[in-house]
Amino acid sequence: MSSQQAKEKSPEKNRKKVTILTIQQKKDNREPITMLTAYDYSSAQLVDEAGIDVILVGDSLAMVMLGMDSTVSLTMEEMLHHCRAVARGAKHAFLVGDLPFMSYQADKVEAVRNAGRVVKEGHMEAVKLEGGQEMAETIAAIVRAGIPVMGHIGLTPQSVSKLGGYRVQGKTADHANRLLKDALALERAGCFSIVLEAIPAPVAAVISEKLHIPTIGIGAGGKCDGQVLVYHDTLGLFDKFTPRFVRQYADVRRVILQALVEFSNEVATGTFPAEQHTFSIDEEELQAFMKKV
Ligand code: KIV
Repeated sequence: MSSQQAKEKSPEKNRKKVTILTIQQKKDNREPITMLTAYDYSSAQLVDEAGIDVILVGDSLAMVMLGMDSTVSLTMEEMLHHCRAVARGAKHAFLVGDLPFMSYQADKVEAVRNAGRVVKEGHMEAVKLEGGQEMAETIAAIVRAGIPVMGHIGLTPQSVSKLGGYRVQGKTADHANRLLKDALALERAGCFSIVLEAIPAPVAAVISEKLHIPTIGIGAGGKCDGQVLVYHDTLGLFDKFTPRFVRQYADVRRVILQALVEFSNEVATGTFPAEQHTFSIDEEELQAFMKKV
């Protein structure tokens, strides 16, 4: 096996901690950035061990972990609970926590306070928030407070009602132009990176080319500086719907289901627990015990 093949097969054991500087360096060196969501201790451990650069505690947790219909009902407390669990499981990846809907839109001061909570109480290193030029002042205020901000434009799920559904964005010249202006405004406001969601690949390519900071695409083609997917979609753990831009790398739901059915059958038939799963007691102690019952 060549050393290149070995590198591709097993993530480095002695990885350095990924920082905001590592992420910018990757853009500068044209090295793709990897990002995945994680929502708890064990998923964070796995994503981290796989060598992924950035872990996002996405508000998609509302749907894939909590069974809600959209991301809009998620609360700050729920987000913080999941952020803390992820922070316990990840050692190397850069940690970003989503700001939930209405934790930053109404008031700049409240936005800074809630971003601070994600860092102080959730132990994240940065926050992500959705929106374009209209969020620039809020982003600048959070960055001034010393908190790195990842932007998110294109399909912004927190505004699903305003967008009229989960639809591709930037399909007309005017809309594509607005997205470019949004991206440039977010860069000027101090974002260290921007998620581009469900945007035609050529539009995302131009935005990525024009920005100095990295773009992370989801349904935005291969010319973004990095790619992000939702953990449950990547592993085939979420069966309500699968967006077209997802590649499912495993069918973990099927594997789990098979194992659970097997457990159920073995208990029903008495095959589990077997000898090796049980504890013994000295014969004398057992006899003494039996005399007393
Ligand atoms: O909440 C989330 O998982 C996200 C990603 C889809 C980028 O925002």
